[in-house]
Amino acid sequence: MCGIVGCILNKDNAVQFILEGLRRLEYRGYDSVGLAVIIDNNVLVVKDTCSIEQLSSRVDGFKAVVGIGHTRWATHGRPSRKNAHPHVDCKGEIALVHNGIIENFEGIRKQLAFRHNFLSETDTEVIAHLIEENIERGGNFFKSFTYSIALLEGSYAIASIYRLEPDTILCAKKESPLIIGISDKGTFCASDPLALKGFVNELYSLRDGEIAVLKPGKVEVYRLVNRNVVLRVKPKKISLVSFLGQEDLKRSDGTATLEEIREIPYALQKSLIYREEELDPIASCLIRSGRIHIVACGTSYHAGLIGKYYLTKLTSLNTITYVASEFTYWANIDKKDTVIAISQSGETADVISAIKYAKKLGAKIISMVNVPSSTIDRLSDYTLYINAGPEIGVAATKSYVNQLSIELQLATKVSIELGYEDSYIYNEVVNSIRECAKLSSEIIAKYTPLIVKLAKSISSKNSVYFLGTGLHLPTALEGALKLKELSYIHAEGYPAGESKHGPIALVEKGFPVMISSSYLEARDRILSSIEEMRARDAWIIAVSNDDKVLSKADVNIPMPKSNHLVTPMMFIIPWQLLAYFTSKSKGLNPDKPRNLAKSVTVK
Ligand code: AGP
Repeated sequence: MCGIVGCILNKDNAVQFILEGLRRLEYRGYDSVGLAVIIDNNVLVVKDTCSIEQLSSRVDGFKAVVGIGHTRWATHGRPSRKNAHPHVDCKGEIALVHNGIIENFEGIRKQLAFRHNFLSETDTEVIAHLIEENIERGGNFFKSFTYSIALLEGSYAIASIYRLEPDTILCAKKESPLIIGISDKGTFCASDPLALKGFVNELYSLRDGEIAVLKPGKVEVYRLVNRNVVLRVKPKKISLVSFLGQEDLKRSDGTATLEEIREIPYALQKSLIYREEELDPIASCLIRSGRIHIVACGTSYHAGLIGKYYLTKLTSLNTITYVASEFTYWANIDKKDTVIAISQSGETADVISAIKYAKKLGAKIISMVNVPSSTIDRLSDYTLYINAGPEIGVAATKSYVNQLSIELQLATKVSIELGYEDSYIYNEVVNSIRECAKLSSEIIAKYTPLIVKLAKSISSKNSVYFLGTGLHLPTALEGALKLKELSYIHAEGYPAGESKHGPIALVEKGFPVMISSSYLEARDRILSSIEEMRARDAWIIAVSNDDKVLSKADVNIPMPKSNHLVTPMMFIIPWQLLAYFTSKSKGLNPDKPRNLAKSVTVK
């Protein structure tokens, strides 16, 4: 995770650019923040565990043309001032920001410790000292940098500046994203294209093993062959399409998540961008496949479970869904197989690893991402954009609903191609999703006051269960994840039938049990689960379109009776709102839950 940004500008407003870039990258982590600039031939570093606004007040009046910045999600070393980036060498002449993990840092640190003074507990700091060591041995900045990079194991996106070469930024990339941009305003690097929106008119992505030399008005890219050999290569241009649809970014002041939930009706409309025939190549790819492996993490994994349900029920294609970090241990891949990678950010490291693993074994990759030109988009044979618009709140909300919509459109198309459904069904499904967009808006308006009240009661609880079955098991899992990450209340989602196999042991008077159910599936199982819980005096809250289920609940949130397959797109909304308002009621910031980041770019 972590976000990095750097610039060499024609004017002396580097600090303003870096601060703006960091605001846009804050979704990658916000444990601490910092920047380094070169002013009067000195490297100045300002960093802390503060907000970007607080940092901004400390650098007011700094005039610099060159600088780098960092927003951190801690991996090695707790969030603290000394562990914040940029890190410097002993003399404070080299400053460096890093996203990724240096796996062999302990060995390097041991070797350097007798001559170098380490100030932090991070893996990153060794890189600054390595470069210093190589400069002391007579190398220039570029040689010392490349020589040092060649010694690193692990993942990294790095940007570094050096006091004695004040018109240069050196960058290196392996497994963590890094892009370069140029315009008449200057030369730039950043973790993602969004950070450079409005600043550049040419964008390049660095490939693994590449090193970029940024100078005023130009960029050179080299491939690191070994410690001593670097070859100049043509930089890989990427399209500015990444900026399309990226409206002005909202600030994460605690309202982005709520706005994003409220945008669900609009986002769902925008998920209907594909004409049926545009799905032809992807549907054919799936039909030709041996097995279909869906890989994703967190909320996208829950969407992947629903994707499996759609593909299994509508097409009977052999589909398995994996948590991406487990994929290599469990999956059996054949070159006839296809991987469907689902990721809002398109940058999730575990998903990227799974894709690379499957590609090596000859599988085809279809991705569903929200961010065009992201790493996962670029690694895929086919991409479907979920088109939810920028999602800034750390909790995935509207992107989840749009993932489901795209999955349903695709599964319907495949079932038509296989002859299981008539072709008019495609339009019927599109119409159900459109209807769902309208109904979502009514759900938000109608139930917000009730959920605000409910959230007050939930905020004093220590533990909550979310139960579902079939198509609504993922709704239960996702409801629990939302509540846990936004309110820090322990929440567990599980199949309703499992209560009696263990979890019910915790249930006592007033224990909150959240039910997600549709009248078209597993009614008896849900009803008996509710009875088991009621017999232990649990407090039952139901999101359902089943009158009988609703009549058994202490708090009921009635849902519309629509096409069963679109119900997960609506039934999740009350749980998202509940998580948001519980967080607010506990005085937390739902946009930036502790210990989390929007984009998880480390394994
Ligand atoms: C969702 O609320 C989470 N913050 C998280 O689980 C997220 O869904 C996960 O990290 C995957 O991210 P991605 O969709 O960008 O790959």
